[in-house]
Amino acid sequence: MRTRNIAFSLLALVVLGGGAFAAYAWHPAIDPIDPPRRESFDPALVRRGAQLAALGNCNVCHTAPGGQVFAGGLALPTPFGTIYSTNITPDPETGIGRWSEAAFARSMRAGLDRDGSHLYPAFPYNHFTLVSDEDNRALYAYLMTRDPVRAPARENDLPFPLNQRFVLAGWKLLFFREGPYRPAQDQGEEWNRGAYLAEGLGHCGACHTPRNALGAEKRGEHYAGGEAEGWHAYAINAASAAAVPWTTDSMFDYLRRGWHEHHGIARGPMAPVTANMAYVPEEDARAVAAYTVAGMGQPSAERQRRVEALLAARGPVGGGARPAASDSQTVPASGGEPGAAIYAGACATCHEAGRPLPFGGINLAFSSGVRGESPENLINVVLNGLPAAEGERAPIMPGFRGVLDDAQLVALLSHLRARFGEAPAWEGLDKAVREARSGDRLASSRPTDSVQAAPADPTQRGTTW
Ligand code: HEC
Ligand code: HEC
Ligand code: HEC
Repeated sequence: MRTRNIAFSLLALVVLGGGAFAAYAWHPAIDPIDPPRRESFDPALVRRGAQLAALGNCNVCHTAPGGQVFAGGLALPTPFGTIYSTNITPDPETGIGRWSEAAFARSMRAGLDRDGSHLYPAFPYNHFTLVSDEDNRALYAYLMTRDPVRAPARENDLPFPLNQRFVLAGWKLLFFREGPYRPAQDQGEEWNRGAYLAEGLGHCGACHTPRNALGAEKRGEHYAGGEAEGWHAYAINAASAAAVPWTTDSMFDYLRRGWHEHHGIARGPMAPVTANMAYVPEEDARAVAAYTVAGMGQPSAERQRRVEALLAARGPVGGGARPAASDSQTVPASGGEPGAAIYAGACATCHEAGRPLPFGGINLAFSSGVRGESPENLINVVLNGLPAAEGERAPIMPGFRGVLDDAQLVALLSHLRARFGEAPAWEGLDKAVREARSGDRLASSRPTDSVQAAPADPTQRGTTW
């Protein structure tokens, strides 16, 4: 009898809970509208929307290789399967042409499709939820005034039950906190502006914060370093491994130009982030930099001393800086250590000889590639090099895929870590090298410096309307 009662109460609970969950999971469709006319949008609002879209990297995810900007179809590999981005041009049939502003704003704020179904968080709405109504209005105006492109959505490649959108309601219940952004009272205006942009549209944490087994960013490890398409997004909190501590000025430069003499070049998935950042108003980019640097804290006096010694000992870059005193005098370049010999023969001519850009590289003592918590990016750069960006004056480095075998590469990387890294040896270097060389990993990583991944189409740069 007793057990039956318990069974009944349990059943009742499940039914009630299920009902409550269904109510939570269900959302109404928002009625389709007739596509609004281009002229109905204020040009100033459209311009503002272009800048916000650049900050949000909408072009990066919503453009397939060789495809039209915003027409979707880019494969986003996740540990659970492949998700394809959708068409966000105003095409009435295959894009968002029949979405009202309310439907668009709801997708950003709550991760819901116009028809009410849940969207996958590969669309970073856990960040975009912070975006204000006003900024969503500008983004909407911008997207609705692009050229419509007919491009039907591609079917996602996900196993059951993950291919059922209602299960995303459970994910949201666990990990999603709805916005908009609420300013921190104990912080100033610039910090709050930076936090709003970096945590919201900029979605820096989508790459720089590690994720848990269910693909959600770990709350307690904000900006502690994460994975992005076969690249490592370094820690940008107090654990930053940068040789020279970041300042608001240096980060502003790095974000806008994709390069800084104390930090080197932005590669992999960070390259399109910086390419877009060049189109963001200066004060917004500066606010993002100020906010991010504030989270890193003050470097200790001891660290500051070491930095000054480093800067005095080595000119950071070829270009403009004094030629660095070559370490090959202090470290025997040949003899016992094969890594040292490879470095001296293959790398030092560009990285220590004071050659100007685009052929000279930074002194590797300044590179997060050598100092950072993961060897992934260093391996990618050495294997594939940095191809020239078309029509631009950009740093160039040859790839060594065909020159160095795995054992030589491991010897070289161990040497670089020991000599320049100021950090313990990396574990599992052999495996990381093997994986990076294999086609598997490359398939999921962008071209080396991702120049190709940042579409050069002027319509998404905010220059034509
Ligand atoms: C990190 C990749 C990524 C970025 C950056 C991104 N999106 Fe998306 N977006 C996606 C994916 C993937 C989907 C599809 C989600 C799904 O099918 O559930 C999507 C879906 C959408 C949808 C829903 C469309 C539909 O047909 O259901 C809208 C609207 C949208 N994105 C707008 C934007 C805007 C605006 C930006 C820039 C502010 C942006 N996205 C940036 C990946 C991204
Ligand atoms: C799509 C993924 C992605 C996004 C989004 C992203 N980053 Fe990055 N970021 C990376 C990767 C990958 C690297 C490493 C690049 C390299 O090795 O050159 C990186 C490097 C950096 C570095 C250099 C760190 C160092 O010490 O060398 C900074 C600073 C940085 N990102 C800041 C930001 C900020 C601020 C944002 C948000 C506005 C942001 N990132 C958004 C992927 C991303
Ligand atoms: C022909 C000149 C050249 C050669 C040879 C060369 N590099 Fe580079 N390297 C560059 C340039 C240019 C850059 C981009 C500017 C920068 O960031 O240093 C670069 C960037 C890098 C970076 C990224 C630095 C950062 O954090 O931004 C690493 C790591 C690197 N090279 C390692 C190597 C290694 C290891 C070798 C030898 C196997 C090598 N390079 C050989 C020119 C060269």
